[in-house]
Amino acid sequence: MKLEIGTRGWRSEMIKLDALSKMNSEEKYKYMLILLEGQLSSEKDALANLSNASAIIKAAMDRLNWAGFYLMRNDELVLGPFQGLPACNRIAVGKGVCGTAVSTRTLQRIENVHDFPGHIACDSASNSEIVLPIIKDDKVYGVLDLDSPELARFTELEEKYLTKFVEKLNKYINWEEV
Ligand code: SME
Repeated sequence: MKLEIGTRGWRSEMIKLDALSKMNSEEKYKYMLILLEGQLSSEKDALANLSNASAIIKAAMDRLNWAGFYLMRNDELVLGPFQGLPACNRIAVGKGVCGTAVSTRTLQRIENVHDFPGHIACDSASNSEIVLPIIKDDKVYGVLDLDSPELARFTELEEKYLTKFVEKLNKYINWEEV
């Protein structure tokens, strides 16, 4: 897939929705990383980058009802750029799936959120969830959180490409400025 970069840089409207609809999951996720690279390499503003990063995920991954960021602010998670219904503003470290990803510094892939003790239900449509901690230079800056109405929506395939997604964010974003 060729990335188009115009004279004013990459533009989000260049997302090829027609092409996406014909791709299999892995092709979509590869394209998702190309779109993210285009975004991050053509824009310096972290808020713009995280906003479009959540929109890129929502466009490239099907069967999601929520995709976005919670960012560390004074030792708690605070809602950041996202796509989906309005969500909880603040999550304590150690609480819910997001807070657990921070306290354990590990990716959480939850097949059925109703079985997760302390799961925080921001959207009652959510049935499965994946949360990736964002860690750079040993410091946790936040999480990337995706929810799906489908049970066990997230597999090793999603885990693999979302891990690459966070690695790419880490390469470009100065989290101290967010
Ligand atoms: N379910 C999350 C809360 C955030 S929403 O899903 C957007 C949790 O348990 O931490």
